[in-house]
Amino acid sequence: METVVSGIRSTGNLHLGNYFGAMGNFLKMQHEYNCFFFIADYHSLTTHPTPENLKSSVRQVLAEYLACGIDPDVSTIYVQSDLPETAELYLLLNMNAYVGELERCTSFKEKIRKQPDNINAGLLTYPTLMAADILLHKAVKVPVGKDQEQHLEMSRTFANRFNRLYNTQTFPEPYAFNFGQSLIKVPGLDGSGKMGKSEGEGNAVFLADSPANIRKKVMRAVSDSGPTSPNEEKPEAVKNLFALMELVSTSDTIKYFEDKYNECAIRYGDMKKQLAEDIILFTAPIYEKINAIAADDLLLNKVMNLGEEKARDSASKTIKEVRKTMGFRK
Ligand code: ADP
Ligand code: TRP
Repeated sequence: METVVSGIRSTGNLHLGNYFGAMGNFLKMQHEYNCFFFIADYHSLTTHPTPENLKSSVRQVLAEYLACGIDPDVSTIYVQSDLPETAELYLLLNMNAYVGELERCTSFKEKIRKQPDNINAGLLTYPTLMAADILLHKAVKVPVGKDQEQHLEMSRTFANRFNRLYNTQTFPEPYAFNFGQSLIKVPGLDGSGKMGKSEGEGNAVFLADSPANIRKKVMRAVSDSGPTSPNEEKPEAVKNLFALMELVSTSDTIKYFEDKYNECAIRYGDMKKQLAEDIILFTAPIYEKINAIAADDLLLNKVMNLGEEKARDSASKTIKEVRKTMGFRK
């Protein structure tokens, strides 16, 4: 059975971008593949969380994984830092990762632009840590959103480089994967390209948002004054609203608003009202479970311990093999 690995950083609650880019695919893959889903708390350190914050966000994200329907008896759900083997493989891979290629990475260049005061080495080597997560379990499929494609390309480079250097077949090539379709980018509500937790207030709809909150956010979403001639090309913000509808609304609903747009009769207030209700319909079954799971310490601890044990099995095998290949004494 092919192995799948994916993770989401524990830097905040999960939003619809995480859901449709990654989580929704985890759910569909868990019965067909050998799945490892982890909470990327090492990766979250680039933003310098306090110990309290780190601890509570890991538990929150875990509760949200479970509320979405990831089954700890079927998949392996673990916390990244519970496997220090990850950190060891990261160190080893870093020796063959070149500063030039890391500096050329789009996500790194974006960080330089967005947060010039905190360009730490962890940001530069973010792709090697991600490669370590994936290669540790020899995964071949990695369910992620479109923004992670370049990181996967770098994971393949590091895997192949290791194999070549040591003349082995240790690592298979991992590929970004979306169940049944191409990789996706979910747009935000603020007219900007991508829904993300580090974007501005009001950009993201979180799975933990109450229905009232979702209505408020969606009603404030950026649109424009409406088309003035039939079948006009849609401006970016309006395209985004339609893209969100594609994810949660029925084809009849989408067609209704497409027709209205093309006839210059669209009322964005109506469209947003419908979009909000369709998002709520979609998120309600998840939203309703999150708080109870997040408050169940016994359950969370049990899941984390079980996941750690299962993940260690696979991680320690790989690390042993890598150490031997590289010539370490033990
Ligand atoms: P964020 O971008 O909000 O900080 P992460 O970087 O932790 O979230 O992303 C975790 C996963 O969710 C990755 O697989 C990423 O590709 C996916 N993801 C995040 N935002 C989006 C989005 N807007 N569209 C599609 N996938 C996304
Ligand atoms: N880099 C991913 C993100 O920011 C999160 C992540 C870390 C990940 N390690 C991974 C995703 C390994 C897939 C596989 O979105």
